[in-house]
Amino acid sequence: MLPATYAENPPGKIYDRNRDWNRIRTWGRDRDREHDSGRQRGRGREREHDRDRERDPFAMIIGSSPGITAARNLARRAARGDSNVLLLGETGVGKGVFARAIHEAGHRARGPFVVVNCAAVPESLMESELFGYEEGAFTGALKTGKPGKFEQASGGTIFLDEIGDMPLMLQAKVLRVIQERVIERLGGIREVPVDTRLIAATNKNLREMVATGEFRGDLYYRLDVITITIPPLRERKQDMPELVDCFLKKLNKVCHTSVTGVHPAVMDAFLSYHWPGNLRELENVLERALNLTDGNEIRPEDIPVRFWEVLGSHLGEAGGSKGFNGPGLDESLVAHERAILVATLRAAGNNRTRAARMLNISRSGLYKKLRKHGIPSKG
Ligand SMILES: Nc1ncnc2c1ncn2[C@@H]1O[C@H](COP(=O)(O)OP(=O)(O)OP(=O)(O)O)[C@@H](O)[C@H]1O
Ligand SMILES: [Mg+2]
Repeated sequence: MLPATYAENPPGKIYDRNRDWNRIRTWGRDRDREHDSGRQRGRGREREHDRDRERDPFAMIIGSSPGITAARNLARRAARGDSNVLLLGETGVGKGVFARAIHEAGHRARGPFVVVNCAAVPESLMESELFGYEEGAFTGALKTGKPGKFEQASGGTIFLDEIGDMPLMLQAKVLRVIQERVIERLGGIREVPVDTRLIAATNKNLREMVATGEFRGDLYYRLDVITITIPPLRERKQDMPELVDCFLKKLNKVCHTSVTGVHPAVMDAFLSYHWPGNLRELENVLERALNLTDGNEIRPEDIPVRFWEVLGSHLGEAGGSKGFNGPGLDESLVAHERAILVATLRAAGNNRTRAARMLNISRSGLYKKLRKHGIPSKG
């Protein structure tokens, strides 16, 4: 567990985005007033931000790290046309969010957005689900027949999620739809033209699956027209404060809470953790914490213990000290600050101005810290 000394003496200066925590504790009355008017300005900005989101579907995609920015820019371009899009990325990185934004930003936005989760539909039902069936096609079929998802998505977009789980037999049929733009319902004899944009997503390595014969090469190359790779959260930790902020606002509405931030030590732990479940995991951790916390801030004890284990071992390695629970807390914090500086500089492509902005400290403050840690301030 987190030692009490750490909870009481957080390295607040390191993550200035969370400096509200320090301000609340240390500021006098005048400053509180200043803080309140700042907050009102902040609320104005928030409303503006919400309006932006309504206008621009890509505004839902939070993050300004290079990886997510590149993915968002490519998605924006993809939204302008009708080419097939393939979204790649680990579980929980936001493939579903990207697919919807591409649909909503394109000329088909007023048409339907139909999602098929290829991993969730049983193989025996997948064909009728995708292509529909005619009257009496099989026992239990509706008298009137039923249009499939491709037909339902006509004029709009079909999103084939987890396409790596689609059985080979159906892959051939999907390929035919893509190439000929027609479908044939089960038990039917006529071809029905479909005007549907296709977006597919997977967390599997389709290229490898093609090599092992688990995925059809011809379908893969048809899908691989605009391929957007969404980076995992561990590769874009600089987006963490922004993501936490955005998720807290969203979750406060669901949980009927008014939490405004996280304790700096919690932010430390989030930045050290490897996030195998990506943004979905972050959202879940925050939702859990909102249900536990009493105040307006998420405290270290509100997040699962796995975060502290990671932080403990990370500090132990970085500082060569006796670890998180050892006596060398100051040394651990210094080592951790150094690790953050190095990581941020790397993420900022060694651009000091950008690194200072990411850390929300002044450039001169950054130089001072670099000198303190003996990190070269050039190159
Ligand atoms: N860039 C983003 N900004 C804000 N929220 C996001 C972003 N990306 C994902 N989310 C949120 O994270 C959660 C997971 O996203 P999503 O379901 O799209 O992931 P996924 O890649 O489709 O995962 P899976 O492969 O498991 O289906 C959702 O609740 C979504 O709202
Ligand atoms: Mg998904």
